[in-house]
Amino acid sequence: MKKRQGFSSSIGMVMATAGSAVGVGNIWRFPYILGEYGGAAFLIVYLLMVMLIGIPLMVTEMAIGRRGGEDASKSFKKIAPNTKWYLSGLLGIAAAFIILGYYNVVAGWTLKYIVNAATDVFNSSITPDKTTALFQNFVSAGLEPIVYTFIFMGLTMFIVYNGIEKGIEKASKILLPILAIILVVLAIRSLMLPGASEGLKFLFKPNFSSFFEKKDSILVAMGHAFYSLSLGMGIIITFGSYTPKEENLGKVAIKISVMDTIIAVLAGVVIFPAVFSFGLEPSQGPGLVFISLPNVFGGMYGGRIFGTLFFILLSFAALTSTISLLEVVVSYLIDSKGLKRSSATLISGGLICIICVFSSLSMGSHLENFTIFGKTVFDFLDYITANIFLLVAAFMEVLFIGWFYKKGEFMEEITEFGIDKSNLTNFVYFSVRYVIPVMIVVLFIVNNGLI
Ligand code: PHE
Repeated sequence: MKKRQGFSSSIGMVMATAGSAVGVGNIWRFPYILGEYGGAAFLIVYLLMVMLIGIPLMVTEMAIGRRGGEDASKSFKKIAPNTKWYLSGLLGIAAAFIILGYYNVVAGWTLKYIVNAATDVFNSSITPDKTTALFQNFVSAGLEPIVYTFIFMGLTMFIVYNGIEKGIEKASKILLPILAIILVVLAIRSLMLPGASEGLKFLFKPNFSSFFEKKDSILVAMGHAFYSLSLGMGIIITFGSYTPKEENLGKVAIKISVMDTIIAVLAGVVIFPAVFSFGLEPSQGPGLVFISLPNVFGGMYGGRIFGTLFFILLSFAALTSTISLLEVVVSYLIDSKGLKRSSATLISGGLICIICVFSSLSMGSHLENFTIFGKTVFDFLDYITANIFLLVAAFMEVLFIGWFYKKGEFMEEITEFGIDKSNLTNFVYFSVRYVIPVMIVVLFIVNNGLI
């Protein structure tokens, strides 16, 4: 039998998983929710959520994958034969597939914005009205955003097609350091703008009143921790299955979470000083990156270069995430369905492209009025994955590990057969058994408006 592929080294594993975690969520979503939920106050609660829930769940998912040694669904079948727990993995795989159907569309936009910035579309004559119109016209244009989406999906497929070590690991080892360098360069530029300190104050001085004004702040922090660490969608289980046995999962999870958080905070250091310096609103939601920032680049000395760099950064962040999502589906088709990597990549990539067409068209007149449960295709896919699939998959995982799987076997996997005697491993077990299930149930109820 052919040997199953895997990561070649510890660094490769950490970089690939961190690449998955570092995505559009860090650079686009984190800053805008931070803006809406009281700056540093949100940051503090977010950090707590990462520690209490994110890291333990990441360790658990890695352990399931490594113990099972197969894709996100078959790994469950291996460690819990003749049970239905594998459905949890299947749900994660379905989530990864569906998420790609809209995440790729946003990823495609980043390519168009690289072109816009590089060709000086964001020049000194740009105004907020113009950037709004530019964005609206582009996303609803029909063919053009679809072409960019396909280019992005093509890149993703190319990397995944090349396998774990030569594809995903290599791409992450190249893209992630470049991403970090661009981020630091942009942060320095942003800090040099007049009035930058206002932005820093906003980011680092806790404003608990606007945090508590919103009832759902804590849950938003928790939901974002899930999203940002790529949990509940089979990614970490799949990557866990490629991880060498001698790796200490707790340490790896801490490293990845620290990297993910540092990058998100740095993105805040890039965005908020610029936003304040140009007198823009920090709490304006999703349009922050595609609509507000182009105004900043238009008005800033060197804006053409810095704008181009910014959108390159965003597309790299998206690419390291889309490859991890596609790998979940591809590894399922290989391990559970016996396909070759090449056909698995082509088939799943092709199907995802079809979904992307629908979600892209739902942004404009073509399919805007076609709704499912009152949502456009794009919003519907986002909603069911983030609020239902991910949460149910993660809930089943912790229920299984915390209450049905033998504690001894789980502890063996996360302590490297007893070598690691730190309290972290006990904490992970405690959190998986009690804290995470309760929190997920609350999040599920509130997000779906059940009370
Ligand atoms: N963690 C990624 C981010 O922060 C998002 C992501 C979601 C990646 C789903 C893969 C899957 O953007």
